[in-house]
Amino acid sequence: MNPPAIAIDGPAASGKSTVARLVAERLGFTFINTGAMYRAVTWYLLEQGISPADREAVCAALPGIPLSFGKQGAVSCVLCDGRVLDAELTEESTNKNVSAVASIPEVRALLVAKQREYNRSEAVVMEGRDIGTVVFPDTPFKYFVTASEEVRAARRAAQGITDSIAERDRRDSQRACSPLVMASDARLVDTSDMTIAQVVDLIAQDIQDRMAAV
Ligand code: DC
Repeated sequence: MNPPAIAIDGPAASGKSTVARLVAERLGFTFINTGAMYRAVTWYLLEQGISPADREAVCAALPGIPLSFGKQGAVSCVLCDGRVLDAELTEESTNKNVSAVASIPEVRALLVAKQREYNRSEAVVMEGRDIGTVVFPDTPFKYFVTASEEVRAARRAAQGITDSIAERDRRDSQRACSPLVMASDARLVDTSDMTIAQVVDLIAQDIQDRMAAV
């Protein structure tokens, strides 16, 4: 049996990434940011001049992609030819194209396999869009973190990121392959009127209570 996996899903700028990182720290688990994996593939394809709309070209490029998925301390990272990617992942062109790349089934299959690998040897808190529905459908620990569209837009603006959240969420929710939906057995956490600390306390406490009960 694999170590525990905590699934944290939700729309863009819901605060799930910060929350997931802090919950992982609290529990001593590894934090995995799967959005960064989709972003890295997107950045690489654009660097190579491959259009995300050209599914055939994307699929042809996938086997030779020089990306690897590792860890820095207890946090996931993506490396390209051994160099950790950072600013590349939030470039305007990456933001704009990531939903299109994430809608390609072959890209998802490759990254889902990598995501599951992380959990073979260690307990993880993994955040994304399909973690509770596709990556770890059997985990009992699923949280769907959301906030109103206004609150999410304000949070994004405060980070200095100009990114069409509503458009990206629409595409992520409507794609055919692994769309953004709440798993039927996930716990919904609306963070619109909560601080990060309150959300972290709520989720970490819930996990600890349930783990202690088994
Ligand atoms: O979490 P994020 O905003 O960095 O994610 C970037 C994009 O990647 C998002 O628009 C949808 C996609 N994504 C996905 O389809 N599945 C995941 N598990 C994580 C992200």
